[in-house]
Amino acid sequence: MLNVESLTKSFGAGAAVDSVSFTLGQGEVVGFLGQNGAGKSTTMRMICGVLDPDAGDAQLQGRSILTDRLEAQRLIGYLPEGAPLYHDMTPVEFLHFLGACHGLGRATLRAATDRVIADARIGDVARRRIAGLSKGYRRRVALAGALLTDPPVLLLDEPMDGLDPVQKQAMRALIARMAGDKAILISTHTLDEVATMCSRAIILDHGRIVADLAPEALARQHELGLEAAFVELVSARRRPS
Ligand SMILES: Nc1ncnc2c1ncn2[C@@H]1O[C@H](COP(=O)(O)OP(=O)(O)O)[C@@H](O)[C@H]1O
Ligand SMILES: [Mg+2]
Repeated sequence: MLNVESLTKSFGAGAAVDSVSFTLGQGEVVGFLGQNGAGKSTTMRMICGVLDPDAGDAQLQGRSILTDRLEAQRLIGYLPEGAPLYHDMTPVEFLHFLGACHGLGRATLRAATDRVIADARIGDVARRRIAGLSKGYRRRVALAGALLTDPPVLLLDEPMDGLDPVQKQAMRALIARMAGDKAILISTHTLDEVATMCSRAIILDHGRIVADLAPEALARQHELGLEAAFVELVSARRRPS
């Protein structure tokens, strides 16, 4: 579903993302783990084509984000960091606006809007101005937008950010429900989220992948204590040889 090949990006000194490669198949929920500044958001922005890489490529079902951008972007639902939104709109207006951008017909759009409002649990604020909504609701309005066209690949940048425990629980349930027929990449700096939601974990440090843990390895690491394993991985790389 997603094939990331040697994505690289520098902002001035040093590489923020340094030759990152991985693939994501249908049914996989992959945790994209790393400390603040590790390069998670930058990688996601390159995959979905809002930031051009210095080198490398990302392919969505074989379509390059560089040479076939619009077709590739149709296959991605992207929840950006912080969830920028139009504050003067209501969630319903926002979703209708997005639907128009995607060229959805009236009936399709109405059905899609109802579906994502239910999935993101924003029904009770659907006709309130976004400006007045709490952070947790705004994140979920942005999520509803990312799900509107029911894309096969989801890139969720810190989806739990700003959610309360009840909302987190609902988000986990939604991700689990969607997992079967999609490929989902979830960035987080919280290890517990990876352990509860993901079948695999890719660990990023200073722009490089330092571990790609398959389900068995992830479970084993979790038994040992994922937190300790993560600290060990990251600090081992920093030790002078
Ligand atoms: N637009 C930008 N301009 C300059 N530096 C940036 C920009 N975006 C990210 N960076 C830098 O790139 C590195 C990776 O950032 P980011 O991808 O946001 O990390 P993460 O999402 O893992 O916290 C950081 O050192 C950050 O300061
Ligand atoms: Mg980030």
